[in-house]
Amino acid sequence: MRQKLVVGNWKLNGSLLNNKALIAGLLERLKGINTADFAICVPYTYLFQAQNLLKDSNIEWGAQNVSQFDGGAHTSSISAPMIAEFGCKYVIIGHSERRALSNESNQKAARRFARAVDAGLTPIYCVGETLEERAAGLAENVVKNQILAITHGLDEIVFERAKQVETVIAYEPVWAIGNGQTASPQQAQQMHAFIRDLIAKVDVDFASKVRIIYGGSMTPANASALLAMPDVDGGLIGRCALLADDFSQICKKASMADQLYLVA
Ligand code: PGA
Repeated sequence: MRQKLVVGNWKLNGSLLNNKALIAGLLERLKGINTADFAICVPYTYLFQAQNLLKDSNIEWGAQNVSQFDGGAHTSSISAPMIAEFGCKYVIIGHSERRALSNESNQKAARRFARAVDAGLTPIYCVGETLEERAAGLAENVVKNQILAITHGLDEIVFERAKQVETVIAYEPVWAIGNGQTASPQQAQQMHAFIRDLIAKVDVDFASKVRIIYGGSMTPANASALLAMPDVDGGLIGRCALLADDFSQICKKASMADQLYLVA
């Protein structure tokens, strides 16, 4: 069975002082829990702090994006080998806010994905449709193209490496992010199963192992129902990741997944 994974996406939030308190709160609440995996993805400037506070704990850390280049004249960019130096396990790739803000194409996201796996990082590759796309009946088509960019758009060596570094897919319907309008468990399950089937067309074994997590207004109140879905392997959490109590509650629900399946 795939162990659930809960990842906090801090986005553009934090300060050295607040982070210290938030991380201390998480360490205290999640201490000793090992039946789910936990991580926080912080702004680059706090990677050093996250590494210092979280090393030797049951909470991993990571970044929120990575350059498609490994070096050179790319002012303000941060490369995958650079963030790997801070002990990161994860990096978010292709978040819808990045795709929207910098007009990021599937091809560009796939190039970032390739840089991440080359550096030994586990990419959390985000996919998801907008409200307009869903209303037009295009949701599956949009997600399919985003998935194809990594299953067919990368060369074989990169894809092999992606399997070794435990790629994670995050289904984040854009219409559900940051606004309290969560996808229903059935909507999430349907898309997660669709994504797993797409990956199975390329590699059945990989499809059965890859964790597909859900993001978009997951809260302590709705987490159990979402996490009880057979293809929902965890959550990518924005707003609730900024509160130690809320985030830990979601993590604890994920850690009791066996019981969720029994009541589902
Ligand atoms: P949210 O953000 O939980 O605030 O909806 C999720 C995300 O953007 O990853």
